[in-house]
Amino acid sequence: MNELTFHRHRRLRRTPGIRKMVRETVLQKEDLIFPIFVLEGRDIKNEVPSMPGVYQVSLDHLGEEMDRLESSGVPAVIVFGIPEHKDENGTQAYAEGGIVQKAIRQIKQNHPELTVIADTCLCQYTDHGHCGIIEQGTIVNDTSLDLLTRTAVSQADAGADIIAPSNMMDGFTAAIRRGLDEAGHTNIPVMSYSVKFASAFYGPFRDAAHSSPSFGDRKTYQMDPPNRLEALREAASDVEEGADFLIVKPALSYLDVVHEVKKETAKPVVAYNVSGEYAMIKAAAANGWIDEKEVVMEKLMSMKRAGADLIVTYFAIDAAAWIDQE
Ligand code: PBG
Ligand code: ZN
Repeated sequence: MNELTFHRHRRLRRTPGIRKMVRETVLQKEDLIFPIFVLEGRDIKNEVPSMPGVYQVSLDHLGEEMDRLESSGVPAVIVFGIPEHKDENGTQAYAEGGIVQKAIRQIKQNHPELTVIADTCLCQYTDHGHCGIIEQGTIVNDTSLDLLTRTAVSQADAGADIIAPSNMMDGFTAAIRRGLDEAGHTNIPVMSYSVKFASAFYGPFRDAAHSSPSFGDRKTYQMDPPNRLEALREAASDVEEGADFLIVKPALSYLDVVHEVKKETAKPVVAYNVSGEYAMIKAAAANGWIDEKEVVMEKLMSMKRAGADLIVTYFAIDAAAWIDQE
């Protein structure tokens, strides 16, 4: 026998059928979560310039978007609100008639089978654009927790199926868990943005959500990109505080972190394929420099291979169609 035949890896790649048999990772529509941006007003459907194909919609156009989502087979949506009025305490974040609360009620009424996830943060709602409350020029942790908890409870009251706090204050998961329990929402899971880096990849989102900080940056609360062990500490404290899902964000430059968080926690792990990652692919594809479908599917697959159970992605509806074609 020829020695070489021991190493013929190509035998398992010979046909599409065999390749499928040995494929180790699968991407399903059930893995995907679609982000939407809702705003006050009527008959608004604005395409975000840095995110072609992504829209800010007023509530009268939300139904169409949710019809599109539902028929794609993607089962979940994460809702971001853009309020009409901002103030220093972000009061529209926890108002009963806030834009997100209204959107959640509307989606649950008209599309009850969609899983509605509420992003819980203050940055779209504060006039300074930070994710917490400012006193003497700094973001104060514990005052922010009270308002974030109120926000989470109001979102659950509106019918959110899952609460996803993204503010990166210390102790936010415990505070929100306690607040939800005290309000009787003991069965509503928390999908915590446990590991969120202070990333330049959020740029297009901040245009879409009008949430850029008016001074400074988010580096005292979001994580420093070089840190891997600190990411594990963040994840561990969220597990202790009662998080049901752990988000790692951004996804692509942090797949090592996705992998380790999955390995260390055995919790459902969510990779957030952020706006800048979307924008780069869209820009290159529009120039004809890459094949959009192939690149998107390869990237989503890489997140799953790294250990993500779920992926938040602006490509969710397109990816669902591409999954159907296979
Ligand atoms: C707000 C928030 C951000 C994103 C989700 N929630 C931006 C930020 O922290 O500035 C980013 C999403 C994206 O870039 O797609 N806390
Ligand atoms: Zn924020």
